[in-house]
Amino acid sequence: MSHKLALIGFGGVGQGLAEILCERGEKLYKEVGFDSKVVAITDMMKGAIYDPKGIDLEKALQVVKETGSLDGYPESPGLIRNWDSLKTISESNADTIVEVTFTDVKTGQPAIDHCKAAFESGKNVVMSNKGPVALAFHELSELAKKNNVRWEFEGTVMSGTPALRMPITTLAGNEITEICGILNGTTNYILTKMEDGLSYEAALKEAQELGYAEADPTSDVEGYDARYKIVILSNTIMKAPLTVEQVKCEGISHLTLDDIKRAKSEGMRWKLLARAKKVGEEVIASVGPECLQETDSLASIQGATNAITFDCDLSGPITLSGAGAGRIETGFSLLIDLINIERKQL
Ligand code: HSE
Repeated sequence: MSHKLALIGFGGVGQGLAEILCERGEKLYKEVGFDSKVVAITDMMKGAIYDPKGIDLEKALQVVKETGSLDGYPESPGLIRNWDSLKTISESNADTIVEVTFTDVKTGQPAIDHCKAAFESGKNVVMSNKGPVALAFHELSELAKKNNVRWEFEGTVMSGTPALRMPITTLAGNEITEICGILNGTTNYILTKMEDGLSYEAALKEAQELGYAEADPTSDVEGYDARYKIVILSNTIMKAPLTVEQVKCEGISHLTLDDIKRAKSEGMRWKLLARAKKVGEEVIASVGPECLQETDSLASIQGATNAITFDCDLSGPITLSGAGAGRIETGFSLLIDLINIERKQL
């Protein structure tokens, strides 16, 4: 089937997916049977366009790159402008909503309302926005199930690196007893640069300039971003109904250059680790800096790269590493969600 997509949000990640669809559309159809057209784009800052027959995605990308707005998208019969996100979600002819608005991890809004509106109008949602998954996983999963639609969010943990789908599909049958990972690129970048002698402030500034950090980097350096991700992993992989408040959390902002140099001279490295461990019937999760032996598989992860180890009772520990952010990498995470909806697979 040809999927009709509505993009709610058209920042870096939304544009990343749009570029992939423009460049790879035909190949995707030939090789994996995935066919789609974008019927709507709505963005708080850039405006909104909706054409039930499909919009010219290359043109939309071009006008946004040149003018920063969708207002210059050419007129055509059937084109509707300025529908807001909720109207687009409820009333457009899209079958799948790509939710890529900014992440507000305190309230999860407006993305939680976007998911509810989509499910209640019989539409699938794919998203890379952590808020709704970390804060409203059970409510939204139930609502999607009740309405017989799909809710996919691979990009919420480690962007296009399959930290969610790989354990759910390929490691199925194991009991996963512990998950431990470097789930925040900004802090790993800072710690790596501090090992090279850069100050905390200078390393954070570089991470911000390279686009790794959240709009408010407090979320990265105090461990909150990693905490949302371990809550998502606990709920989806370990099936533990853990909330953000139940996860003890400490960041890296108190680590000094001296702490890092001392560790290095002893063959150790500081890493911000997020852990979720089965203890009896419970899962206990935490985020905090840990000093690892240089030989530990997670100690060798440098720069903004992320990594995660799944301790499995049958296959043994499996470690996956890769990008944890990036517009094309996160655009890919949305694409693989869309492809798996088409394949009717998880
Ligand atoms: N700020 C996040 C990080 C981006 O540094 O990993 C991806 O969630």
